Amino acid sequence: MPTSSQPFRPHSLDGDVHPSEADVESILLSPEQIATRVAEMGAQISHDYEGKDPVFIAVLVGAAIFSADLLRQITIPCSLDFMAISSYGKETRSSGVVRVMKDLDESIESRHVIIVEDIIDTGLTLNYLLDNIRNRNVASVRVAALLDKPSRRLTKVDVDYIGFEVPDEFVIGYGLDFAQRYRNFPYVGVLRPEVYGGK
Ligand code: IMP
Repeated sequence: MPTSSQPFRPHSLDGDVHPSEADVESILLSPEQIATRVAEMGAQISHDYEGKDPVFIAVLVGAAIFSADLLRQITIPCSLDFMAISSYGKETRSSGVVRVMKDLDESIESRHVIIVEDIIDTGLTLNYLLDNIRNRNVASVRVAALLDKPSRRLTKVDVDYIGFEVPDEFVIGYGLDFAQRYRNFPYVGVLRPEVYGGK
């Protein structure tokens, strides 16, 4: 079982990005820190939504791991659905152009919705999603994000449940990727700028 003190080394992968521990500049959040905070968030949400039977909408692919852990900390009746939206590809900056690649499987009309996001950066993606969800006649909509990078915000968005604030660095792991890689790292780390040609 890898921990922050025992580096996790994935096997070599095909493709033009070969993730390795050496690509990580520093570990920001250990698996233990993440687990503790996710449990707190789950307890808070379970308390706030008692009797409301909320539907969690996890935004693929980045929130897949966070939502899997968060949902297991929810102690009230709830359901889970997924949306997939276009990502940065191999860019590290948001284009602001958001496309729905996979829509919800079930209607959310009259439901209490909690959008589950990996990270709020410029806020453009979340802004789009909030508009999209509000247009479906929901009872309410809130946002739970593992990470918040408030220094890069381009549009005002309200995030109700935040796991951690992170500095203006490109982070990977625990679901977050660069060019689809590093999602399997069990911690959140800062990617070396040399890997993506930044700084
Ligand atoms: P925004 O539209 O700029 O807020 O970007 C939101 C999405 O961009 C997130 O859901 C992530 O998928 C991706 N993203 C933003 N910052 C990072 C990062 O530091 N690492 C990995 N993905 C990121």
